[in-house]
Amino acid sequence: MTQFVLPTPTAKRRFDSSDANWWRQAVVYQIYPRSFQDSNGDGIGDFQGIISRIDYLAKLGIDAVWLSPFYPSQLADGGYDVDDYRDVDPRIGTLEDFDELATKLHERGIRIIIDIVPNHTSNRHQMFKEAIAAGPGSPERDRYIFRDGRGEHGELPPSDWESTFGGRAWTQVDDGQWYYHFFAREQPDLNWHNPEVKEEFLETLRFWSDRGVDGFRIDVAHGLAKDLPEILPTQEQLDALPHDGKHPLWDRDDVQDIYATWREVFNSYDPPRTAVAEAWVHPDRIPRYANPQSLGQAFNFDLLKANFDAGEFRQIVTHNLKLAKASGSSSTWVLNNHDVVRHPTRYGLPPSKHTAGSVLDNEPGPESEWLLSGGEHPHLDREKGARRAQAATAFMLALPGSAYIYQGEELGLHEVVEIMPAERQDPTYFRTQATQIGRDGCRVPIPWTQARPAFGFSTAQAHLPQPDWFANFSVETEEADSGSFLHFYRAALAWRAAMEGDETLQWCEDLCTNDVLAFKRPGGWVCVTNFGAEPIELAHAASEGDASLNADNVVLSTQPLPDTPAARAVQIPGETTVWLRAAQ
Ligand code: BGC
Repeated sequence: MTQFVLPTPTAKRRFDSSDANWWRQAVVYQIYPRSFQDSNGDGIGDFQGIISRIDYLAKLGIDAVWLSPFYPSQLADGGYDVDDYRDVDPRIGTLEDFDELATKLHERGIRIIIDIVPNHTSNRHQMFKEAIAAGPGSPERDRYIFRDGRGEHGELPPSDWESTFGGRAWTQVDDGQWYYHFFAREQPDLNWHNPEVKEEFLETLRFWSDRGVDGFRIDVAHGLAKDLPEILPTQEQLDALPHDGKHPLWDRDDVQDIYATWREVFNSYDPPRTAVAEAWVHPDRIPRYANPQSLGQAFNFDLLKANFDAGEFRQIVTHNLKLAKASGSSSTWVLNNHDVVRHPTRYGLPPSKHTAGSVLDNEPGPESEWLLSGGEHPHLDREKGARRAQAATAFMLALPGSAYIYQGEELGLHEVVEIMPAERQDPTYFRTQATQIGRDGCRVPIPWTQARPAFGFSTAQAHLPQPDWFANFSVETEEADSGSFLHFYRAALAWRAAMEGDETLQWCEDLCTNDVLAFKRPGGWVCVTNFGAEPIELAHAASEGDASLNADNVVLSTQPLPDTPAARAVQIPGETTVWLRAAQ
């Protein structure tokens, strides 16, 4: 139950199509197109489905949508195995549908970001087909990473490297050579030393920029540049190498040469196209990707990986704001995406070193066993998880920088565990012989209504099974409940749009404790989060004469507040965030 103390302002997005800085404090809503809305009854979401939900998106109060890959794909990795970067999967629509979507989003003041996957293509991409047909030593083969095998007849892979999705990172082709793939075998890694590869992506960036795309999310941005020695190290040796810019595979300094050429393309448009890097690198190396000569912004996944803990959150915020400043970018904040366990579920589980449960870092959290079981977790407290998720979201949305939210997050959806082996899609599940569950549980199609067969997502069964409890989290159900997650997200985004000001934050030291974080933003805004289980009172600050902290200045609270006489100190229940604004 959320209590909104004041009526929310009308969403007032500052839309100016010529604004080159729109992304700096934007709220970006990630759509996983195959799971958002189906319009033609095939159980797979599509562009016309998204178009039919633009009112919903506008009412939510977001600034941009980011579309996960919608390109033709055999779906070996949820569309991150791209057959053609300049086309649309016919199950999702056509290029004309894309144009209609972009135009209609723009008409409503919503920008559009698309996902570019440059580390690898699919094995059905024209370039890979040509590489296979042309044979060893050919210029076509040079576009990918081919090697001869070891052993008397080359029957052993060139090295013992493992794919992050499980199994070998090398696959042998009919003529005996092997190609490298960090992900699934259907995702051969590109050789970024090759000029044709470079040209292919410059053309792709121009193609979509010309179609009106406002920005790009760059998949595995830290992986493109590679420098493999003649004698390959073992996996153990590889893992032991420092990530100092010279690692053979990851976060090499020379990857920036690629982005310098991309920057020229971005800046040839008015306003310049933006980009955000998905770079799983040491936080201190993030500015290399986030500076204006490179991609301009980079994801910071620290909050997503953190426990619900005041100390962890404070350290992360302080450090990332410093990094953003050093790079001339704004920080990004993320609590959910299509790769991790949803945040109400994470926060409802006992604290862990790997709460995000990401399969990408190859370190499954202790919750993996439960996820694999498909049953109810003995220690999962769903209400606590939901309470904390709302408090964390309100904390995140008050921070300077841009916030990325993932479809279904605004409904408070939990991770879906009830997916039978035969219904699973994530390659991780199959490549690890079902010892890692993968990411299907956060990719189940959105429930719009309470009705089967697919809760308004489709007239057919959804491509991933939706559990019965989805009815309680449907948009229809939540619309009717003023205390729902949906109403909370709308209110928080509307108030956030009213938060004007620069990208600074000032901690209220007299209020921060082991369990409490409080910070001020320009314009008289104060955000207080009680991470602890016990209620607190802001009496001390009030007695210091800080008028902004009076109960009558509360504009939003993630839990109902006890009745307090006007102009008295605010009492904040456990696991709750409150926003206050001093009368101006
Ligand atoms: C994407 C994943 C994808 C992988 C390979 C990632 O970082 O977010 O969903 O499986 O890249 O493209």
